[in-house]
Amino acid sequence: MNTKMAVIKEDDFNYDAVFEAAEVIRAGGLVAFPTETVYGLGADALNSEAVKKIFEAKGRPQDNPLIIHVADKDIKKYAENISPIAEELINKFWPGPLTIILSKSSIIPFVTSANLNTVGIRMPASKIALELIKASGVPIAAPSANISGRPSPTDFERCVEDLNGKVDYILGGNISEVGLESTIVDCTVNPPCVLRPGAVTLEMLKAIHKDIYIDPAVMKKPAENLKPKAPGMKYRHYAPKAKVKIIEGDLKKTIEKINEMVLNYIDENLKVGIMATDESLPFYKFGEVISLGSRKDLNSIAQNLFETLRTFDDKNVDVILSEAFIREGIGIAIMNRLTKAAGFDIITLD
Ligand code: TXA
Ligand code: MG
Repeated sequence: MNTKMAVIKEDDFNYDAVFEAAEVIRAGGLVAFPTETVYGLGADALNSEAVKKIFEAKGRPQDNPLIIHVADKDIKKYAENISPIAEELINKFWPGPLTIILSKSSIIPFVTSANLNTVGIRMPASKIALELIKASGVPIAAPSANISGRPSPTDFERCVEDLNGKVDYILGGNISEVGLESTIVDCTVNPPCVLRPGAVTLEMLKAIHKDIYIDPAVMKKPAENLKPKAPGMKYRHYAPKAKVKIIEGDLKKTIEKINEMVLNYIDENLKVGIMATDESLPFYKFGEVISLGSRKDLNSIAQNLFETLRTFDDKNVDVILSEAFIREGIGIAIMNRLTKAAGFDIITLD
């Protein structure tokens, strides 16, 4: 397949490219596009045949439902039993990195919801995404624009890397500001339950409704027999080709431990990557070292996480040793993605 591409600049917004891509969506084709969380791979959410192509292009398991993206807060056409709490969440956090799970209306095909009676809905904040949805005139079903199992792409080049030749159109824009996929809140239960942590943090959600909580399965190994309610959370996800290990504890001890491990791996002729922070960077002498950003700015660490995992793959490292982060605020989402990338391989220092 010949993939058409266009990169749109915020200060010189190219509506022609958006209209061209919208035409592809209306005709049942696939368009990758930027959002503020990660890039998405979109199709007309109401067209079963179009949605099937998303699963094929990504190599995505059929039982993993898609989020539909809307350009309007009025979602009565797509969802039923919209609770007052759901409405409050929509009013407070849309457009933005929050997906709400609700009972689906009959207009949503079962291919999109992977046979569930519920549907995930999000109104993204990215201007390109919003204009694309408006011009298409339909909600756009879009998973992250990566090949299934790889870290989600946060820029145009990474989308091209995964999807060139597999989709009809790739729209490029800025680097995704958040860098992690949206927070998912199941509003079909009371109190609502967080199925995937993201940039809309538990603290922010609790300010709307104090009983909202995080599904206990979120931070645990699937083997512990707690079945995650977001089907996608059970798959090995966010994973680079290299083996990832997390070292968690006091920063000084973490640095010592990582330095000791690096030397052992080098002895075994393995190539090691270290995911460091601005604070620890000067203390690593061996291996490929990349800083995710300053510990004082967890948002920048979130933004750089997936791109850094992919950079280590480009460098063909065998093992990635990562520092851990505080499990609060967006740190919960960072640690969720990191522990999944590591297959829950965490060394806890005392
Ligand atoms: O930020 C995002 O949400 C990005 C951008 C493109 O919007 N999209 C995204 O989609 O991350 P995806 O498909 O990679 O992840 C969607 C997650 C999966 O874990 C899926 O199982 C879950 O949402 N999900 C979707 N619909 C659901 C439903 N009805 N019930 C429970 N979980 C659902
Ligand atoms: Mg994904």
